[in-house]
Amino acid sequence: MRSYDYSDNAEQKINWKVFQLVWPYLLDYKARIVLAIVCLVLSKAANVSGPFLLKNIVDTLSEGGANSLILVPVALVIAYGFARFSMIILGEIRDTVFGRVTERAMTEIGLKVFKHVHRLDLDFHLNRRTGGLSRDIERGINGISFLMRFFVFNIAPTLIEIALVIGIFFFNYGIAFAAITMFAVVLYILFSMMTTDWRTAFVREAARADSVTSTISIDSLLNHETVKYFTNEEYEANRYDRALLDWEEAKRKNRLSLLGLNTGQGLIISVAMTSMMWLAAERVAEGSMSVGDFVLINAFMMQLFIPLNFLGFVYREIKGSMANIENMFSLLDLTSGVKDITDAPELQITEGVISFNQVSFHYRDDRAIIRDLSFTIQSGEKVAVVGASGAGKSTLVKLLFRFYDPNAGSISIDGQDVSQVSQQSLRRAIGIVPQDTVLFNQSIFENIRYGDPHASDEEILQAIRLAHLEDFIAQLPQGSATVVGERGLKLSGGEKQRVAIARTILKRPPILIFDEATSSLDSKSERSILSALQEISEGHTSMVIAHRLSTVVDADRIIVLDQGSMVEQGSHRELLSLKGRYFELWTAQLRDHG
Ligand SMILES: Nc1ncnc2c1ncn2[C@@H]1O[C@H](COP(=O)(O)OP(=O)(O)OP(=O)(O)O)[C@@H](O)[C@H]1O
Ligand SMILES: [Mg+2]
Repeated sequence: MRSYDYSDNAEQKINWKVFQLVWPYLLDYKARIVLAIVCLVLSKAANVSGPFLLKNIVDTLSEGGANSLILVPVALVIAYGFARFSMIILGEIRDTVFGRVTERAMTEIGLKVFKHVHRLDLDFHLNRRTGGLSRDIERGINGISFLMRFFVFNIAPTLIEIALVIGIFFFNYGIAFAAITMFAVVLYILFSMMTTDWRTAFVREAARADSVTSTISIDSLLNHETVKYFTNEEYEANRYDRALLDWEEAKRKNRLSLLGLNTGQGLIISVAMTSMMWLAAERVAEGSMSVGDFVLINAFMMQLFIPLNFLGFVYREIKGSMANIENMFSLLDLTSGVKDITDAPELQITEGVISFNQVSFHYRDDRAIIRDLSFTIQSGEKVAVVGASGAGKSTLVKLLFRFYDPNAGSISIDGQDVSQVSQQSLRRAIGIVPQDTVLFNQSIFENIRYGDPHASDEEILQAIRLAHLEDFIAQLPQGSATVVGERGLKLSGGEKQRVAIARTILKRPPILIFDEATSSLDSKSERSILSALQEISEGHTSMVIAHRLSTVVDADRIIVLDQGSMVEQGSHRELLSLKGRYFELWTAQLRDHG
């Protein structure tokens, strides 16, 4: 089963494949990429020229010719300033120019993954924590940005610069300087990489502790009502406190290991610098090098090691980013269990006849939910499905919507197998008022508009009237602009159901399904809504699922479901005269309510 476990991706290996994945999305902006690379090269050139200018300034100054004292150093100083400025400004231009490329790639990939994930089947979504999924996408997108910024424009150019400087040292000052630099850089990089890998365990532990504390606090705060009902504030605080202690401990290890990394890096840099300076000082004393050369070497070393300072962090983040990007792309490889056949035709609704032919279905292999079920709902007929909780009534609806495919048998609408037509056209044809209505955290008006995004305001008001929402909305200070809260929690169950009904009215589908559509309403509202529903479903094929049998006595036919099998069917009268299961249910409910 697919599931989401917390994992820190930094553990994985450097993964070059990621560039292959991202590359195609960058290609739209060839000109910008070329311009960015030109800026990069020019700024590196400016950067490398800096120490040379410095050397010349120092040398001219220390030679101290009377006339050169004014003119030459001034020119050199200005040139030096210009080089520094060019380096900075070219770097900025490069980032600005390339930023657009990165952002476009990020939005394009993000949108693509978002669309793809919405196309995946229900099973995928049920098995995956939504928070985890959106975090995967977000991390992947941020990974792209990080990779571009740090790898393409930081690490790679720095490596090139190192090679250049080693070359310069070798040709100008001989093997010793080049060798020390090379040795120091290699040692530095190896040390940083190894220490970072070693630290990963601590970083991961800290990240996990971080995630645990936030999960605990979110879960606890989300359930604030339950916490109050059971007066478990203290218990919750203790749980949170324990998690925080773990977090502190993990952070401590993380911090200490960082100290180790930074100390080691500092040591390598200092030893390398000291030996280079020593060597250079000796040469200056001998007279084989000028003071300017001494300054030049010093300047180069400083320039080289500053970007390397972040190497440990960048190395880990780049590995993490690469893994995150790959992780996000791997979502694109997932395919839905429920797929359209190639060139799936649209469902053509003529009569709206629904038939289940020997349908069997299970969610898990070890438990059958629907067993060999066959029935037909004729055009314009209203069929009720009743049965105990867990009998499989809502599952029938999910099968009809093709959220799942039956394990055996088939379902067809107007003679077309639902698995042979496009899911879009199938779902467009069916309207549902579901058992648990979940609303978007938007206004009531926008939530109703969801039934048909192109509907006019007039049509929406009409739907509001039909769903008997008018009076309720009139009581609200902000009317239909009232925002309903996360998942619609600021509305009562009955109000949510009426919003769902209005939404379905707006969709105007040929086939209607009501899954306990009025279960949260009081008898009076229920009656008025039922009559409204009757109006809407007039002439439509409809399936009504209900516990309260009084709401389905007028159905053309009632199907009694028991553990996924149909045990009886017929009209209310016929079923009563059978004196079977329906009769039992009916008399039991009469006893309770009457
Ligand atoms: N995604 C799922 N994975 C595994 N089992 C599931 C899943 N969805 C539902 N079930 C199980 O399938 C059985 C039938 O569920 P269904 O929702 O169809 O019942 P129902 O008849 O609509 O019940 P109720 O009247 O309470 O709404 C239940 O026992 C439920 O636990
Ligand atoms: Mg149900």
